[in-house]
Amino acid sequence: MALQVLPINSIFGAEISNIDLAQPATAETREQLNKLFAEHAVLVFRNQYLEPAQFVETGRIFGELMEQQVKQFILPDHPLVGINSTRDLPRKNGKLQVRGENYHTDHSNYLEPPKATSLLAVEIPSYGGDTQFVDVRKAYDDLSDNMKKKIATLRSKHIYESSRSPRSFAKLTAEEHAAIPNVIQPIVIKHPISARPALYMNTGRMEGIEGMEPEDGFALIDQLYKHATQSKYEYRHQWRVGDLVIWDNRSVMHQANADYDPEEYRYLYRIMLKGQQLEPAFT
Ligand code: SIN
Repeated sequence: MALQVLPINSIFGAEISNIDLAQPATAETREQLNKLFAEHAVLVFRNQYLEPAQFVETGRIFGELMEQQVKQFILPDHPLVGINSTRDLPRKNGKLQVRGENYHTDHSNYLEPPKATSLLAVEIPSYGGDTQFVDVRKAYDDLSDNMKKKIATLRSKHIYESSRSPRSFAKLTAEEHAAIPNVIQPIVIKHPISARPALYMNTGRMEGIEGMEPEDGFALIDQLYKHATQSKYEYRHQWRVGDLVIWDNRSVMHQANADYDPEEYRYLYRIMLKGQQLEPAFT
């Protein structure tokens, strides 16, 4: 059966049907899915009620799996599979402190950040808890020529938690913290497959801009972030049980939402795929 591909909007994202990811994929299907992924940056598969091992195999269609960073949120029998569960979340004034609640790209403080992240919905609240994505390739394309020139070769230091982070990160053990790198990343990266330029941003981790006064650097980051997170660049995924979504961390940013009833259960499996060192789009 041929895959069915339904673009999600005019910019990015595609819903793929006519496929059962519980079954091994042929070489032809794997190739096709990788092409679709490089083009659309977010792929959505509905009705995939996978066991953790099948989820891992699905991830392998797109690359090699990466270890989870925060070891307290993994499946003991499948350590490459993270768990994103409301039962693990702290609360502040009755509100769940959801992980990933501002637009970001995963582990941008790694020299080789994950190329992709995927979530599989196991339990979903009756309302809310959507995941939003914005296309940072299109956001870059739409910048003025002056702004493109200004940021062409700028770089930012990405650390575990920026001094201006709008969100707090999971508290790590001393051992985990010691293993966490800091790295200088380009503000405009070149996509390793398509070569498209894209903004590379993570306000939770960016510690200013190299060579700029802190206030000026953070102001520019805020300006670019505000531009890139406009709703015209957005796809908002409303989860159903059995949804598997995979996204390209070099082409989109994503964010979680804590707008659901904290007494309801939200539980997703999460995997990441190994990436490579990011190259600047311009030198
Ligand atoms: C994440 O940022 O990886 C979590 C997204 C979500 O739970 O919606």
